[in-house]
Amino acid sequence: MVAKTMDQLVSLCKRRGFIFQNADIYGGMQGVYDYGPLGVELKNNLKAAWWRSMVYERDDIEGLDAAILTNRKVLHYSGHEDTFSDPMTDCRKCKGRFRADHIKDGKCPNCGSTDLTEPRPFNLMFKTTVGPVDNAENLAYLRPETAQAIFTQFKNVVDSTSRKLPFGIAQIGKSFRNEITPRNFIFRVREFEQAELEYFVMPGEDEKWHEMWKEARIKWWEEQGLPREHINIYTTPKEDLAHYAKACYDIEYQFPHGMEELEGIANRTDYDLGNHTKGQDELNLTSHCHPNSDSTTKLCIRDDESNSWVVPFVIEPSMGVDRGVLAVLTEAYEEEDLGEGNSRIVLKLKKHLAPIKVAIIPLKKNNEAIMNKCHEIKQNLLKLGIGRVALENTGNIGKAYRRHDEVGTPLCITVDFETIENQPESVTIRDRDTMEQHRVNIADLPTYLREYFLG
Ligand code: GAP
Repeated sequence: MVAKTMDQLVSLCKRRGFIFQNADIYGGMQGVYDYGPLGVELKNNLKAAWWRSMVYERDDIEGLDAAILTNRKVLHYSGHEDTFSDPMTDCRKCKGRFRADHIKDGKCPNCGSTDLTEPRPFNLMFKTTVGPVDNAENLAYLRPETAQAIFTQFKNVVDSTSRKLPFGIAQIGKSFRNEITPRNFIFRVREFEQAELEYFVMPGEDEKWHEMWKEARIKWWEEQGLPREHINIYTTPKEDLAHYAKACYDIEYQFPHGMEELEGIANRTDYDLGNHTKGQDELNLTSHCHPNSDSTTKLCIRDDESNSWVVPFVIEPSMGVDRGVLAVLTEAYEEEDLGEGNSRIVLKLKKHLAPIKVAIIPLKKNNEAIMNKCHEIKQNLLKLGIGRVALENTGNIGKAYRRHDEVGTPLCITVDFETIENQPESVTIRDRDTMEQHRVNIADLPTYLREYFLG
């Protein structure tokens, strides 16, 4: 197998419509990308797999979809205003600005000058103004993590669902960070999506649940096609933990640019619920909290056993959706030598992630009888609810197969003259991975495909 590089993935993503640079026609915007026709399908499929495993398959998790615009107080009391920053160094010669930990041997990574400023903290949150008056009172942020709204809505969710510990709240949505050096394609960007679960547990049971979620999340990534040998679990040293965490595992994946973080699984203790709560003294909190004078609600839950109010501990598996897309693309990408000077690029995506599930390919371009049969088959397949079914009209089967290999379409169905002339009506099905073809009666297609995709 040929080694995969980031350049190969970037090229495939642009060529086939997965991911484009944002504002490409104006030279692009650094660290901002747009998902194209196939990228949006792949990303939606990955998010759907996460949502299904969290919210539908379990009985202890509720969903949420909160706003991106965030009240300043939320990010003040969460600690982000004070601590969500990277130390940065300016180069006095070329005026470049770099993360201090990216400076090697005291030299500017851009021009090599040693005339650098001392590192200064730079807050990563994007600010905006709500309403027409641009003043400090109207300042708001674009959220840097989806988690905070889960904490601030904790009581509303508990009151409306009557949940008891342990239980979780899951959310998928955009987050924004003014990263100093966005890089490695969609790995480190300024606008990205997170899929986050805040799982609330009894204090004292947190470490057990932390281990449980670590194992559950490794298993889930394996189900998305990432083999265990390409995954590493990194235990964050105490001195590198985020301001809210007592412990954290990173699930790392072997990206083309190296073994890097795909998902964090943090033990956030009672830090966040405690910080958003007024009158913390009565609550027996374990974490160090801002003295909150602004919130009006106690974010705690009744424990029936001890007949007391408890501020739960939080275990947080937090996945980067864009990093997930990059990981499954990396894993799936293969260049195969077919012998006799032939080769193909194939995306061996898990079938539930494939942007197009089935491509229907007519043998002859613009042949009315064949095209009518293709349309009829498509309408019937849509009723199965297996996902996107694409109809081709190129008339070149070899090219269509290659194109669908490159975008990971698991099955191609070819409609030919035999289909319309013989009884019972049948089509050829070609498998992406084995390239094997066999004949299936049209009447059997629903059962065949239901079993293949949903079975
Ligand atoms: N709520 C916890 C939290 O936000 P994090 O480790 O900062 O923790 C969680 O982020 C995940 O979000 C990371 O594991 C990563 O997958 C993704 N992520 C963070 N910053 C990112 C960025 N600039 N670009 C793309 N993904 C990012």
